[in-house]
Amino acid sequence: MPRLVVVSNRVAVPDPEGPRLAGGLAVAVNAALKHREGLWFGWSGQISPGETNTPPVTVERRRRSFVTIDLIENDFQEYYNGFANRVLWPILHYRVDLAEFTSVDLGGYLRVNARFADALSRFIQPDDWIWVHDYHLLPLAKELRARGHDNPIGFFLHIPCPPPDILLALPQHLETVGALSHYDLVGTQTQHDADNLRNYFELQGANFARNQTHFDIDGRRVQLRPFPVAIATKVYARTARTAVRSDFANEVRDSLNGRSLILGVDRLDYSKGIPHRIQGFAQFLETFQNWRGHVTYLQVTPQSRSDVPEYADINQTVNTLVGEINGRFGEPAWTPIRYVNHAYSRASLAALYRMARVGLVTPLRDGMNLVAKEYVAAQDPENPGVLVLSQFAGAAEELDGAILINPHEPEGIAAAIDAALQMPLGERQARHRRMYRHLAAHDIDRWAESFLAALMESRQQPRLFDNIRQLFAVR
Ligand code: G6P
Repeated sequence: MPRLVVVSNRVAVPDPEGPRLAGGLAVAVNAALKHREGLWFGWSGQISPGETNTPPVTVERRRRSFVTIDLIENDFQEYYNGFANRVLWPILHYRVDLAEFTSVDLGGYLRVNARFADALSRFIQPDDWIWVHDYHLLPLAKELRARGHDNPIGFFLHIPCPPPDILLALPQHLETVGALSHYDLVGTQTQHDADNLRNYFELQGANFARNQTHFDIDGRRVQLRPFPVAIATKVYARTARTAVRSDFANEVRDSLNGRSLILGVDRLDYSKGIPHRIQGFAQFLETFQNWRGHVTYLQVTPQSRSDVPEYADINQTVNTLVGEINGRFGEPAWTPIRYVNHAYSRASLAALYRMARVGLVTPLRDGMNLVAKEYVAAQDPENPGVLVLSQFAGAAEELDGAILINPHEPEGIAAAIDAALQMPLGERQARHRRMYRHLAAHDIDRWAESFLAALMESRQQPRLFDNIRQLFAVR
């Protein structure tokens, strides 16, 4: 089996001492590396002092190497804060209005991608397969090809892909989105995302095959397919079963005083629709007054990307709203919303999910949203809670037992919370069973294996065609 080289902006170097904080990307990469020798390359998360790049640092853990580089301040600002998170992130989440483009940041983005390629180059062996993750590294295959690496290279986009009308608003999009044509395989979260990207490449003159799963452009062939990212469903269910008996869980349960828990868990990000959700909850208290005093809405929201102005703004907005709603509806013995900014371990979150009667996952736009999947996996099948899910989360294509809502409609959120709290046990069980079965069958191991199988195929197919062509040519 060939070695797998994984590349992503951040690398989760395992810390045998620390709690398991791993996010979705780390779980996905670990699944890919599970049965094979591998190397994971990316940014250490550290800024190096001065203006000179320091050499990569390698950590060996079991059969895997973790190779990281630091970024100098300028690169961090232009590549990460600037182009990745102030231009690509908003535009790919359909928020052209929030994009702040500068050609300096684009330059920094391209420069850091070239630096990744330079640093990675000497670790790549001819038989390696390379799997690149997410919007930070759109041009990486192009850079690696320019350094002579002919390895199979796949790319997976963890965030949404909007239609061409929006992609074309991205200045010099050919340098970034267009550079995806240097990969052998491009994976998206949903069919909808794949269709949008296909339409974009058609506008750039790509020829699509009849079955639409690959296209030819400038003499290159690219496979393009959805691979909805998943979770380690059974492991997660087991974690939740145990964690719900922990001291942490008991303390939270006691503090609820018999009230039903409504739960939201999101990074602090404008794409998550947290203010809209809080407005929806306020509408719920307004319309369904009988629930006042009988529910607690806990919103767990670790802060992120705090150097980016739009993230400071959303922080301010949410703080103000929570204060307003608690002031308006709260009583001396009841706080309607608990808002916490800490990050919790996987086990603690699993315990909260299992305790929650309602999981509120209402992003304005989300590639997949693994909180939705984790919430389902964590439920007690005998007495499951209900998932209220945005129609604009990738997970909505799969989780047909959720109550789907439009996050822009507070009345709809309010009615969905009420319906979830009132739902009879039989219906809750039936919805949960359906979704759990799907998640158990489509888990993260299957996701990783199907992507890698497609990457292998993407290399075999054109060669097969070449061989057949040659055969006919000789005759
Ligand atoms: C999203 C992205 C990931 C990213 C994560 C955390 O899930 O798809 O690529 O790592 O957010 O964001 P951060 O900027 O802190 O890495």
